[in-house]
Amino acid sequence: MTAGTEAHRGGGRWRRAWEAIDERLGLSALAYPVPAHANGIGYILGGITFFGFLILAATGIWLAQFYHSTPATARQSVVYIMNIAPLGDIVRGIHFWVANVVMATVLLHMGRVFATGSYKRPREANWLIGLGLLGVTLGLLFTGTVLKWDQEGFEALAHNVEMGDLLGAFGFWFSADFAVSLPILGRLYMAHIVILPALGVLLLLAHFLLVKRHGISALPAEADTAVDGGPQPSKGGSTFAVHVVRMAGFGLLMLAATTVLTLIWPAGLGPRPVPGVEETKPPWMFLAFYPLEDWFGLSALLWVPVILFGGLALVPFVDRSPYRLRARRRAFIAIGAIVAVALAALALYAFFSVPRAHLQEAM
Ligand code: HEM
Repeated sequence: MTAGTEAHRGGGRWRRAWEAIDERLGLSALAYPVPAHANGIGYILGGITFFGFLILAATGIWLAQFYHSTPATARQSVVYIMNIAPLGDIVRGIHFWVANVVMATVLLHMGRVFATGSYKRPREANWLIGLGLLGVTLGLLFTGTVLKWDQEGFEALAHNVEMGDLLGAFGFWFSADFAVSLPILGRLYMAHIVILPALGVLLLLAHFLLVKRHGISALPAEADTAVDGGPQPSKGGSTFAVHVVRMAGFGLLMLAATTVLTLIWPAGLGPRPVPGVEETKPPWMFLAFYPLEDWFGLSALLWVPVILFGGLALVPFVDRSPYRLRARRRAFIAIGAIVAVALAALALYAFFSVPRAHLQEAM
C-alpha cells in the first residue's frame, strides 16, 4: 500500500469522526464564510483576545483554589500561591501576563475596527457591544489589581471608594456600608470571578453571533469599490476551520510567550498595605488618567472615562458616510489618532512623574 493511500484512509477516518461529532453537536452551524484577509494579524486580533480569555479562565480557576478574599488573609494567600501551591507561581504569572496581553489586543482590535471603518452599517450594534467588552476587560483588570491586597491594590480600592462617594446614591456598591456583613474586597472578588465574567460571556455571545450574521467586513478598498458601483467584494477565500486553527495557533503562541515572560519576570507582589499612605501608580492601562487626577482632582477619574466612552459610542452614528478607506475619512482618522497619541503621552508623563497623594482619606 502506498503512503498516499494510507494518508487518504487516515484523512477519511478523521472526516468520519468529525461528521459523527458534528451530527450530534451541530458544530458546523457555527461556521460562516471567511475572506482570506481575515486570517491576517489585523483581522484576527479579536480571536487572539478570545483565546486569551480562555487562558485567563483556566488559570483563574486554578488560582481560586488557593485565594482568600478577606482583608486579613488575602495577601498571605497570594504569598502561598507564589511559594507553596502546586505550579502556583507559574499559573499566577501566566494569568498576570495574559491579562496584560489581552488588554493590548483588545485596544489593537478596536483600533483596527476604527481604522478600517468596520463599525459602519450594519455593524454599529457590534461596535457598541465591543465597547461593553472593553468596559468588562477594564473592570477585570481593576478588580484583579485590588485582589492581591498589596499597597497598589489597596490604593486602587481607596480611589474607587472615593469615586463611589462622588457618585452619591449611584455609588452605593462601592461603599463599605452597603454590605457590612462582607468586606468590599469580598464583593470585588465576586465581581472578578462571577459578575464580570458572566457579563463578558453574554456580551461575547452577542458579539460572535453578530460577526456570524454580518460576516467579517471586506477590505476597505473592496468595500469602497462596491459603493462606487465597481465589482462586489469577495466573500470567501478561506474557510472557518482554517480561521479557527489560525486563531488557536496565535493563542498557543501567546501562551508560550507569556510562560517565558513568567519565567524571566514573575508577577510581582508589593508590600503589605499601609492605610493613609499613597505612593503607588496605577497599572499601564489606567496610567493616562493619573496626571488628570493631579490637575483636576479625583472627579476627573469619573468624567474623563465617561467622555471617552461616550465619544467612542457616538463614532458609528457620526461617521455615517458609506466609505471606509482612510483617505476618505481623514477627519475621523485624525481625531482618533490625536486622542490615542494624547492618552499615550499622558501615560508616559505619568510614568516618569513623582507619585503624589490625591485621596482625602485613604481607607
Ligand atoms: C474584549 C473582547 C473582544 C473580543 C474577544 C472580540 C472578538 C471579536 C472577533 C473574534 C471578531 C471577528 C473578527 C476580528 O477578530 O477582527 C470581532 C469583530 C468585531 N469586533 Fe470585537 N472583540 C472584542 C472587543 C471589541 C471592542 C472593544 C470593539 C469596539 C469597540 C469591538 C468591535 C468589533 C466589530 C465592529 C467587529 C466586526 C469587525 C469586522 O467585521 O471587520 N470588539 N470581535
